[in-house]
Amino acid sequence: MFLWIPHKLPPFIIVLTYVWDIALSYLVIKFIMGYSFKTFLKHTAKDFYNQSVNPPVVRASTILFKSLNDIRKTQKKHLKNPTGGHFDYGRQGTSTTHALSKILTKLEESYHVFLTPTGFGSVFLAMFSIVRPGDEILVSDPVYSPTRILSQDFFKDFNIKTVFYNPKNLSTLQNSVTKKTKLIFVENPGSNTFEFQDLSKIISIAKKYKIFTAMDNTWGTPYFLKPIKLGFDMAIVSATKYYSGHSDVMGGSLAVNKRVFKYVQRAEKISGLRMGPDDAYLIIRGLRTLDTRLDRHEINTKKIASFLSKYKKISVLYPHKKGTADYKMWKKYYKGSSGLMGLKIKSKNINSIDKFVNSLKLFGYGYSWGGFESLAMHQEIKEQGKRKYLNLTKDEHIVRLHIGLEDPKDLINDLKSSLKFIK
Ligand SMILES: Cc1ncc(COP(=O)(O)O)c(C=O)c1O
Repeated sequence: MFLWIPHKLPPFIIVLTYVWDIALSYLVIKFIMGYSFKTFLKHTAKDFYNQSVNPPVVRASTILFKSLNDIRKTQKKHLKNPTGGHFDYGRQGTSTTHALSKILTKLEESYHVFLTPTGFGSVFLAMFSIVRPGDEILVSDPVYSPTRILSQDFFKDFNIKTVFYNPKNLSTLQNSVTKKTKLIFVENPGSNTFEFQDLSKIISIAKKYKIFTAMDNTWGTPYFLKPIKLGFDMAIVSATKYYSGHSDVMGGSLAVNKRVFKYVQRAEKISGLRMGPDDAYLIIRGLRTLDTRLDRHEINTKKIASFLSKYKKISVLYPHKKGTADYKMWKKYYKGSSGLMGLKIKSKNINSIDKFVNSLKLFGYGYSWGGFESLAMHQEIKEQGKRKYLNLTKDEHIVRLHIGLEDPKDLINDLKSSLKFIK
């Protein structure tokens, strides 16, 4: 039974328009595949059928078919080509989530991209897909604190052990490998303290011992670094941050290579961790300007970093200074740097740190980052997660700044008038 008739046209014309639409989309994709990241983002995901430069938001729980036979055909197609967008139920996705997954698969140069409702959902899915009771995970010490809690505390209840390694000394990684090590989980740079690791060295250790690898690449995004191309099995980006870019949507992206695809596919299906079409649409919209925004975040952040470097009490945690170990590692792997930086501030007076942050006028106070606006947080990281290799003295404090797209002169003036409060 054909229940869905979009408009009153003879059926063969409708079929012809669909065929034309598919052919045109295919040609456009083929045509733009050869262009750069920047051009691809502007020309992908067009909707020729509806004559729109953007794809429609297709919301569906029930997906309708012409007949029972048609359902079976779609299911067979899905089995044959599981990344082809042959859905039979809304939990699997719709054409909108499929469009986003295709864009990100291209950007990541990966086999496939799974979409989750939050960035942390992608962190969870990466671990949940690979580790089993009795396994061990090696995790970089300065990970995002919920990632620490997930691996160290939550998975412990399932007899999964986590060992943290020092991002600055990879012999602590090498020496912690056991027969039980199943996964190396890297976040680069480190959360709040921005350590840059020797990523190829990590991959070669993992390959030697046949260990799976995952990297949280939210800071760099595939615009600056492509972990799958480098040899990681999985790459995570919180789409909440730069992909969306407007601080109004949450989402996560888990890019995979062919080796881990089947494990993640199984875990994704059973966990139901999938993004909705409205969120996918907003993220596609944000992606159109990802390169432009990141270029500007980088310019602004470098200006702020060199301004702040003049202050004796402050060490700027950002890869802007040639000659430092972090700069060397950043330069080795990244094409650019984003807008998130740390400040290690020396002060015997912790209240003066709060006073400095509280007196900023153009920086908002709140969690998350990656939007168009500047944000500031006093990160009391000792309390957030007991890091093993963080050697902060009691007089050293971390402030995290997200440098937005405002005029950097205004941001510098704002910082200038607040820095006097640091005692
Ligand atoms: C590095 C990193 N990874 C993952 C996440 C989690 O992303 P979401 O907030 O979208 O769950 C965050 C959030 O701040 C993050 O900073």
